Amino acid sequence: MLLLFLLCLAFAPPVVSPEYTRPPPRPVIFRQFKGPESAPQQVHISLAGKDYMRVSWITEEKSQSVVEYGKAAGQYSASATGEDSMSYRYFFYTSGEIHHVKIGPLDPSTTYYYRCSGGGPEFTFRTPPSAFPIEFAVAGDLGQTEWTESTLAHVGSRDYDVFLLPGDLSYADTQQPLWDSFGQLVEPYASARPWMVTEGNHEIETFPIIYPQGFTAYNARWLMPYQESNSQSNLYYSFDVAGAHILMLGSYTDFDADSDQYAWLLADLATVDRSKTPWLFALIHAPWYNTNSAHKGEGETMRVAMENILYNARVDVVFAGHVHAYERFTRVYDNKADQCGPIHVTIGDGGNREGLAMTFESPTPSISMFREPSFGHGRLRVLNNTHAHWLWHRNNDTNSVTADEIWLESLISSTHCNDFATLSKSTNDEL
Ligand SMILES: *[C@@H]1O[C@H](CO)[C@@H](O)[C@H](O)[C@H]1NC(C)=O
Ligand SMILES: *[C@@H]1O[C@H](CO)[C@@H](O)[C@H](O)[C@H]1NC(C)=O
Ligand SMILES: [Fe+2]
Repeated sequence: MLLLFLLCLAFAPPVVSPEYTRPPPRPVIFRQFKGPESAPQQVHISLAGKDYMRVSWITEEKSQSVVEYGKAAGQYSASATGEDSMSYRYFFYTSGEIHHVKIGPLDPSTTYYYRCSGGGPEFTFRTPPSAFPIEFAVAGDLGQTEWTESTLAHVGSRDYDVFLLPGDLSYADTQQPLWDSFGQLVEPYASARPWMVTEGNHEIETFPIIYPQGFTAYNARWLMPYQESNSQSNLYYSFDVAGAHILMLGSYTDFDADSDQYAWLLADLATVDRSKTPWLFALIHAPWYNTNSAHKGEGETMRVAMENILYNARVDVVFAGHVHAYERFTRVYDNKADQCGPIHVTIGDGGNREGLAMTFESPTPSISMFREPSFGHGRLRVLNNTHAHWLWHRNNDTNSVTADEIWLESLISSTHCNDFATLSKSTNDEL
């Protein structure tokens, strides 16, 4: 009976709302690991506190959680050992051994060579700069289709420092081998630049009674620096890079005023020093602003709960995923244009198997500045304390073509909005 249910689950089509039609998505690519059982696979890295990087990988059989690294190929002058690897079970599936090892302190803007578990192939990454300029590549709802490959090829074709993913990674949707396949697909990119992710609905994977909490695979495989940012949960955290503080919020865990996430967010913002990190960005999965007919209103309860906090903190940009299209809003607060509110960008166009969200409401609301259902990715280049440049590239163009772009001025440099210091102080006092 259970098996029958699982089979149904495995072959059930993705849930698609009837209001909009999607164009034919491209097929899923399934990657099988060909190396020996002891070989490290699915290698990816993430920022893990000032000057540290976390290296994550999987081996089929137990092996030591050690990373050897150095500044020249083949010469590993340093090594670090992490906690013992772990594996998780999901119904009849048992994962490989999952390793997470923190390495550092590392120098900024430096290329390191490394290998995992004492052998296997050499990988290389570059640490982000300690000061501006810094460039982020941004795409949500990635999945693992031929469109995903196209997005990743665009991301990789021009240099960047850090990848930001606002939720929906593998679209495994309980089929655990697809998590492994996703790990293989992204390894060439995610082993070379830090990938900072937050969860989407496709990471949930709850099952009544057996897996009521969900996020089993996501939390085991994509460990983010939540402890380093004093969060209680891998589902929300923050990090600093160059002069930016980035909030990675959780759309699929509690966010109301009594929640741990809410208390953490206030405490985290109270530690932000805008003279050190003049830029403040936030990532969520379900957008708070959305004029697409797909997923209308799904981010609304979180918006109502948290928008004033981000507004008072003078967050510069909020990136969201979930809707499989691109949309950029003007600065907004409480559904109205507001020169001190964040710009909201939906960038759920990474290439998942469900296809694009084609239908936007019409006429276009005045706060929506640009919208288009195409697969693509974004680039946020922060030049200095006051100026950043946002670009959106379609996958059907080369990267030299810019589909949408805008110059951003940081809110702290705005004479109208730089009262943030008193605002965040009053938020503090509420604590
Ligand atoms: C910041 O960058 C912008 C865009 O390149 C430039 O116009 C501006 O002069 C820069 N500001 C400073 C203080 O360098
Ligand atoms: C890419 O897609 C856009 C939007 O549909 C279209 O306007 C453009 O002509 C396409 N470009 C190419 C090279 O196909
Ligand atoms: Fe989603």
